[in-house]
Amino acid sequence: MKPMSYQEPIERNIAIEMVRVTEAAAMAAARYFGKGDKNLIDEAAVAAMRYVLGHIQIDGTVVIGEGEKDHAPMLYIGEHIGDGSGVPVDIAVDPIDGTTSVSRGLPGAISVLALSSKGTINCPRQFFYMDKIVTGPEAKDYIDINAPVVENLKNIARAMRRKIEELTVVVLDRPRHEQLLSDIRNAGARVKLIFDGDVVASIEAALPGRGVDVLMGIGGTSEGVLSAAAIHCIGGGYQCKAWPRDKNEKEKAVAEGIDVEKIYRTEDLIDCEDVYFTATGVSSGELLRGVSYFSGGARTQSIAMRSSSGTVRWIDTWHNFNKLDKLSPFELH
Ligand code: FBP
Repeated sequence: MKPMSYQEPIERNIAIEMVRVTEAAAMAAARYFGKGDKNLIDEAAVAAMRYVLGHIQIDGTVVIGEGEKDHAPMLYIGEHIGDGSGVPVDIAVDPIDGTTSVSRGLPGAISVLALSSKGTINCPRQFFYMDKIVTGPEAKDYIDINAPVVENLKNIARAMRRKIEELTVVVLDRPRHEQLLSDIRNAGARVKLIFDGDVVASIEAALPGRGVDVLMGIGGTSEGVLSAAAIHCIGGGYQCKAWPRDKNEKEKAVAEGIDVEKIYRTEDLIDCEDVYFTATGVSSGELLRGVSYFSGGARTQSIAMRSSSGTVRWIDTWHNFNKLDKLSPFELH
């Protein structure tokens, strides 16, 4: 039996409530799967996410969302969310990571949400893109974003007791990655190219035994912070640094006193021991199944994690549309 001091009431695990939020966004977006309209997908996901988040017992502030207030009617940065009860929290969202994939009927899109104590999620939003490297717990102390690709791969292979040829590196399929791809291939590692969605790819790289061992390359900054939340929960290795798009972006950041060469680790982006992360599949990928329908309902699959416990859950949910319609004035499917 544990000593008395440990027998405090079990804290509320908000990750389970958060799953309802990403499930709602995924179901709303999935209606537009393959229909070629990114705006409809985004609008549906944002509205559903905002509605469900608004009913959770939190005192939340959006720190990563749909942009500044002037440009986004909902889930804008600084928006207060929840019923105002409980501890104040930061909320980071990407209602759909992989909007283009959903519009084109392609795999691997997810809806994502991270939450932690107020003032603990830091997003270097001066930069649109970050250069990232992600790996699993075994190799977490063996990565260096400033080192040559071959050196990182050698060190990761050594840490994982594998040959470089037995490592698979996931990379966004973008022209900017031409040199990176050539370096990875010359080093001897295998490559998995993805069309979209480096949050889910980062999770796959960090979770042991998922067939992908490393993520490398340049992707969105907010996606980088959301990935850091997930990697913090998994205990993997994560580093990123700014990748200014042009001279202007770089000079503006320098003028604001930002160190453009700074290496961000998980603790620089998520300065908290207790971060919660959830994601729900919109279109089926290797980590999560997408939304699928049956008569009168739909099925979703989500992942929910918490850094303080290190628990990673896959949650399969059956949604009954008839009952949901009676419960909520908002159409949750
Ligand atoms: P969105 O669906 O949120 O637009 O992001 C998709 C995505 O693939 C991210 O996962 C990735 O970080 C980013 O876009 C890469 O940006 P780009 O498509 O401009 O290379």
